[in-house]
Amino acid sequence: MIEPIQIAIDGPAGAGKSTVAKEVARRLGYLYIDTGAMYRALTCLALEKNVSLFDEQALTNLAHNSTINLVQKEERLHVFVENIEVTEAIRSPLVSSHVSQVAAVAGVRMIMVEQQRAMARSQSVVMDGRDIGSHVLPFAQIKIFLTASIEERARRRYLEMTAKGIPVNEEVLKEEIQRRDEQDASREVSPLVRAEDASILDTTGLEIEAVIQIILDLTARRGR
Ligand code: CDP
Ligand code: CDP
Repeated sequence: MIEPIQIAIDGPAGAGKSTVAKEVARRLGYLYIDTGAMYRALTCLALEKNVSLFDEQALTNLAHNSTINLVQKEERLHVFVENIEVTEAIRSPLVSSHVSQVAAVAGVRMIMVEQQRAMARSQSVVMDGRDIGSHVLPFAQIKIFLTASIEERARRRYLEMTAKGIPVNEEVLKEEIQRRDEQDASREVSPLVRAEDASILDTTGLEIEAVIQIILDLTARRGR
């Protein structure tokens, strides 16, 4: 059997991870796994069920007992919790502002990581998140740490949300992104970190297509 290829893409919020990872996966015919969507889906469920976000055991139980599914349909990744579609709901400002708290819970991470590794076991994947190269897929053949200046990341998110008709203030968005990055980078369990063997790719001023090409070139050079 040909060994499955794993491409791990990590980095801070708004670096372009999901946009680029999804397209790289499509062009290579690999499965795209958005691990952030899994933490977001659990956060959405916890908020809906009024589970205290300070109760680590309750959050771990919720992760254990709920089914989160990522379904790729044509160009879009659809996210389901208990068969209810939450694709849009998980991107709400409320979920964005609470997801790092949920993702910092060790028990929650253990369950998520197990599911993520299982998905990458038998097929080639592009997986994006915060701890993919450093923890989830330590033997990934390609590891990228995608980043961009905070101004550009906030700008991208601002444009994305206003295009969807969601009213946001760019400065508030920038502070929210900064706060989330700090929370993600400083947590005890699997923090946001560049894996030692990951290539840093600063996308400030780079078009999406240019970033995709760089990753495809790196993959081709390693003999996919
Ligand atoms: O799209 P954006 O960069 O805003 O975030 P995301 O990838 O959807 O991830 C949302 C949150 O989930 C992050 O801020 C982290 O708190 C958490 N996360 C994580 O802890 N580990 C991952 N592998 C992926 C996401
Ligand atoms: O997943 P992550 O939070 O890292 O970022 P994203 O959701 O993929 O990208 C955030 C926004 O930036 C999207 O609207 C992308 O279209 C845009 N983007 C960009 O303008 N230039 C890039 N090089 C990458 C992404």
